[in-house]
Amino acid sequence: MKLVPIAFLLLLSGFFYCCSTQHKSAGKTNKALLDTIHRNWSHAATQYKHMTTILPEGRFPKTFYEQTGKLETSNSGWWCSGFYPGSLLYLYEQTKDAKLLAEANRMLQLLENEKVNTTTHDLGFMMFCSFGNANRLNPSAAYKDILLTSARSLSTRFNPIVGAIKSWDGKPNEFLVIIDNMMNLELLFWATRETGDSSFYKIAVTHAETTIKNHFRPDYSSYHVINYNSASGAVQEKRTAQGFANESAWARGQAWGLYGYTVMYRETKDTRYLNQANKIAQFLLGHPNFPADHIPFWDFNDPAIPETKRDASAAAIMASALLELSSYNDDANAASFYKAAESIITTLSSNKYKAAAGTNGGFLLKHSVGHLPNNTEVDVPLTYADYYFIEAMKRYQEMAKH
Ligand code: GLY
Repeated sequence: MKLVPIAFLLLLSGFFYCCSTQHKSAGKTNKALLDTIHRNWSHAATQYKHMTTILPEGRFPKTFYEQTGKLETSNSGWWCSGFYPGSLLYLYEQTKDAKLLAEANRMLQLLENEKVNTTTHDLGFMMFCSFGNANRLNPSAAYKDILLTSARSLSTRFNPIVGAIKSWDGKPNEFLVIIDNMMNLELLFWATRETGDSSFYKIAVTHAETTIKNHFRPDYSSYHVINYNSASGAVQEKRTAQGFANESAWARGQAWGLYGYTVMYRETKDTRYLNQANKIAQFLLGHPNFPADHIPFWDFNDPAIPETKRDASAAAIMASALLELSSYNDDANAASFYKAAESIITTLSSNKYKAAAGTNGGFLLKHSVGHLPNNTEVDVPLTYADYYFIEAMKRYQEMAKH
């Protein structure tokens, strides 16, 4: 596709997203939930300001262990490093609390160097959730430069034979792609919109096409990992890394796919992506193992259900995606997706999931699962659970206004 038409398309799609987020909510606005969200903002500001006091200099929060009172942290290279500054910026937007902005700016400085990191596919998470929000709130040449450099670094991992961005570096003949990688494409769409250079757009669309072809089962659940042959592009293996089994539906992976194809539709207006996102949502909401409160078990196919862990992070990602997706639907889907998102936000706002002020290391939510098969980060707070919970509440609030 030529550069000018693509740029024009993207301009239109940006306009569409801007307008679409102003869609009237697909259900009757729930005043009680809006009040809850309003209270959640001040609770969240208190929690995150508490976190600033216990976070060691130069480190990023990862999780917190209540039993030991230990805040686990990472350096800027961990895939989650963008969520904390991103959450601070979302919270600043809601509260106008200058301390939150100052902390966000401090963290952005620590994160900036990752723009040249070509060893990870997670640059979309790391840089768009952080600098993307910073640039949205306060556009600047410096932020744009950081984001464009990040998009270029991410693009170096694209292999045209496989038709995908490499997620994990494996053995020489392996090219590993995980469903999570759909979340990194938003940065590339932004880069084409910003520069008019269609190569970022083409990489994103090609990756999404390859993923539709190989990651999904006929019921629209998805595999976690596809192992491609790096020389031929042939699929060598379909498996899991963080799920219960190769053929199971790992909850967060399903959430990444749902969010990823919702963004694909927003950015391209290709109704095949809308259909894909709708089918994923229908798979989730219609699943016999999906609990009535809409907080999924960590894997839809864990045979121990209901005696196994819930994953608040998957729920939060789903809520945010379902709200946006509801705005693109004009039939029964819209109401069903919107109601499910309301239910998730309501449950996550209850004492069962929302931490009491001053506890949980400053994180908002309890009960997420990072990597259960590895026995790491099981039933703990996680930065991305908070980030997408905050985003879902912001989206709900904005949709209710229109
Ligand atoms: N991207 C890693 C995860 O979802 O755990």
